[in-house]
Amino acid sequence: IPGRIDDPNYVRIFDTTLRDGEQSPGATLTTSEKVEIARNLGRLGVDVIEAGFPIASPDDFNAVKEIADTVGREVYEDGYVPVICGLSRAFEKDISVAWDAIKGAKRPRIHTFIATSKIHMEAKLKKTPDEVVEIAVKAVKYAKSLGCDDIEFSPEDAGRSDPDFLYRVLGCAIEAGATTLNIPDTTGWNMPWEFGEVIKKLRDNVPGAENVIFSTHCHNDLGLATANSLAGALNGARQLEVSVNGIGERAGNASMEEVAMAIALKGKDMFDSQALYTGINPVYITPTSKMVEEYTGMKCQPHKAIVGANAFMHESGIHQDGMIKNKSTYEIMSPESIGLNRGNQQSGAGIVLGKHSGRNAVSTRLKELGYDLDIEKLNKVFARFKEVAEKKKGGLEDDDLEALMSDQAGVINEMWKVTGLQVMSGDAGMPTATVKMEGPDKMERYVSATG
Ligand code: KIV
Ligand code: ZN
Repeated sequence: IPGRIDDPNYVRIFDTTLRDGEQSPGATLTTSEKVEIARNLGRLGVDVIEAGFPIASPDDFNAVKEIADTVGREVYEDGYVPVICGLSRAFEKDISVAWDAIKGAKRPRIHTFIATSKIHMEAKLKKTPDEVVEIAVKAVKYAKSLGCDDIEFSPEDAGRSDPDFLYRVLGCAIEAGATTLNIPDTTGWNMPWEFGEVIKKLRDNVPGAENVIFSTHCHNDLGLATANSLAGALNGARQLEVSVNGIGERAGNASMEEVAMAIALKGKDMFDSQALYTGINPVYITPTSKMVEEYTGMKCQPHKAIVGANAFMHESGIHQDGMIKNKSTYEIMSPESIGLNRGNQQSGAGIVLGKHSGRNAVSTRLKELGYDLDIEKLNKVFARFKEVAEKKKGGLEDDDLEALMSDQAGVINEMWKVTGLQVMSGDAGMPTATVKMEGPDKMERYVSATG
């Protein structure tokens, strides 16, 4: 139910990997990559998938529509089907394009936003606060008039907005039909205790607050996005907006895996008398994280919490000794619980993937990693798997399979092609290289450099 959650302890997870995440510089995804990621988000059990910004480009529109028409219609055995959300500015044109993209989903949501901080209203929008309220109300009413009953409204840069103005604009948005009020700390400006207080005050002061869900949308400019989201939950937010691996504008968004695991491990005891929980199934965290890394080309830092390459590595002798005696000495969760197989030579089915493995075992492990290949792609990957397995002692690990995927399946987002390379070197003079590349616009460019 859009504006209501019957269990007061349930926290919705709203994933914006495909929207804010894709706004990360260089993280462009193709439609088929977006659909595959959305499928994994479904397996993870996120409540809402923000699939994109449909007015932004025809490609964005098509990707959102395909996700709405496929992932947004696949009902799981327990009745779960994710809400599919499209972002729009507070303009009728944006909203109607967003609606066209998402309306095929069983549970479509329009997310509309306008900035409410002084700096944004004056410098960017060049609007008065009264005009901003009017635009917000018109936008929400318009979304409702299209037949959408799940409407999220965001006052952009709420973290730096005047609280009294927020009470007013949010109260008007509720009256116009908004069912979720998302509170973005757009610039990552707030401290956790400050952001928690913002959520509390909004719940106490916005007229009609009891009829909507409050949501957080925290950016990581000070490295506080996860902490701020949790502070929001402590103060009554029941939707948290996150992205896989924390990707997003600038320093990114609150990371899905950090927020989900913090609530999984601490939700029962550390949120006053509330026993918070989410619908996330953590065993899909690692495959989804790897897929997002692979398709966006944005690799996680090795020490990234939960999904970094070192997150379950133990280097010093003292730590290794502790681990041998009892894994809980240095690990607060098991790697298996987040879908990472320790030592990693075992598939989820307990099969070593080596030169004797068959197509079925390889395909099963790839599926566990989130890659559902058609027969043609599977054949290519399997042929290469056999070649590599012949040479590699001890079998292939998940990372090797991921590499085969990029290498062979042709599913990777090929943006740039190297079309020519010439290198000159010697013991005298400067080494010189000339590289020619064809870009996504099919234009060939070249550059020569010495060094
Ligand atoms: O950070 C932000 O303010 C946003 C809004 C569009 C919700 O991404
Ligand atoms: Zn954002």
